[in-house]
Amino acid sequence: MSMCRICGGSVKEFLDFGRQPVSDAFLAPGDVDGEFLFRLAVGFCTTCTMVQQLEEVPRERMFPQDYPYRSSGSTAMRSHFEQAARHFLGTQLTGPDPFAVEIGSNDGIMLRTIQEAGVRHLGVDPAQSAAEGAAAQGIRVRTEFFEASSAAAIRASDGPADLIYSANTISHIAYADSVFAGAATLLAPDGIFVFEDRYLGDIVEHTYFDQIYDEHFYLYAVRSVQAMVARFGFELVDVEHLPVHGGSLRYTTARAGERQPTPAVAEWLAREETQGLADISSYEKFAAATRAVCADLVELLTSLRAEGKRVVGYGATAKSATVANYCGLGPELIPYVCDSTLEKQGRLTPGSHIPVRPPAAFSDPYPDYAVLFAWTHAEEIIAKEQAFRDAGGKWIVYVPDVHLL
Ligand code: SAH
Ligand code: TYD
Ligand code: ZN
Repeated sequence: MSMCRICGGSVKEFLDFGRQPVSDAFLAPGDVDGEFLFRLAVGFCTTCTMVQQLEEVPRERMFPQDYPYRSSGSTAMRSHFEQAARHFLGTQLTGPDPFAVEIGSNDGIMLRTIQEAGVRHLGVDPAQSAAEGAAAQGIRVRTEFFEASSAAAIRASDGPADLIYSANTISHIAYADSVFAGAATLLAPDGIFVFEDRYLGDIVEHTYFDQIYDEHFYLYAVRSVQAMVARFGFELVDVEHLPVHGGSLRYTTARAGERQPTPAVAEWLAREETQGLADISSYEKFAAATRAVCADLVELLTSLRAEGKRVVGYGATAKSATVANYCGLGPELIPYVCDSTLEKQGRLTPGSHIPVRPPAAFSDPYPDYAVLFAWTHAEEIIAKEQAFRDAGGKWIVYVPDVHLL
């Protein structure tokens, strides 16, 4: 048993994916030797219920200056973050000279709406090349990791923040104590710290096992987040379910005692109780379902190859690193994967070394089957690539089970 990174309790391991690469560490062809691998395993804290990884990857390896992930590649995500920004502009950011800080601002997908509204803001993100994209649009960014020390520096130069917002980033940060200490220093007395991340309830319910990879150090649920924020002087005051990334929750937190929690908090806690999210047996079932999906996917791909069918991948997602490396999929089963991210094209997927090609390669010529690794964008991609199905092509989706579309 290892020790919980939040509360020091015992963490019981329930799923081991073995040696895995850093999920966004795409390789230059010819640069595959000495690839960094770590043991990707997850467990459940028997004290605070936080689901977490057992081995921590150094943060500079996951988020180097040339980190290739770009948030703005999806129309649905652009509209999601514009809505989030508009919501905050109409609620928390209405006082005189409000100040908003975003942790993990990436290419500015959320802050561009705040900036256009003329509201004082600051993005914090260590990924230099992504941050440069944000800065080029006039967004203020500090290229560094948010933690206690950088938060104190921001507070000293810009004053207190009315809103600290973060999407798909807080759960990536193992050193939660430092992040919350920073938030406590930076936040105005009546400010709110809002973060959204993939939801453990959706992951367990639908066997979204590929949501487990290095960057997702914690898999949050309402109960574990409530306990975590309370430990660091905050209170969970609202919870909202979001349809993005296969199901996420937005957690609104305030300094303890500052705001009355909405009924949603208790409702979500009750729902998690019914779902069995605090029972280790739920995770054991999830692990068994994961192994079954992998076996089915390998069987399908192997039989398609035996029939001489052409299969490629679509979406060189971080999630696909777990699928490819856990199930043992390489270029012999999937000769290439198409992806719209310029920073990933021409490179090889981590661990599995499948070449990444631009979406134009997809129709040149169309394959018989395509594994939809970017399944959280299924609607957008299937609509955009309608000609593939018109030509007789079939999508292979592996969550919640292996099926064809
Ligand atoms: N918010 C965006 C980006 C998520 S990817 C979205 O939802 O699409 C996670 C981002 O967090 C990366 O850009 C990474 O560089 C950044 N990040 C990782 N650790 C961080 C930290 N301690 N402080 C600020 N940003 C961090
Ligand atoms: P994302 O869903 O953020 O997944 P992860 O967090 O697992 O990396 O990434 C989506 C990937 O799919 C990204 O690399 C861009 C790619 N993509 C396309 O190639 N075409 C598209 O139309 C969309 C929406 C995404
Ligand atoms: Zn714990």
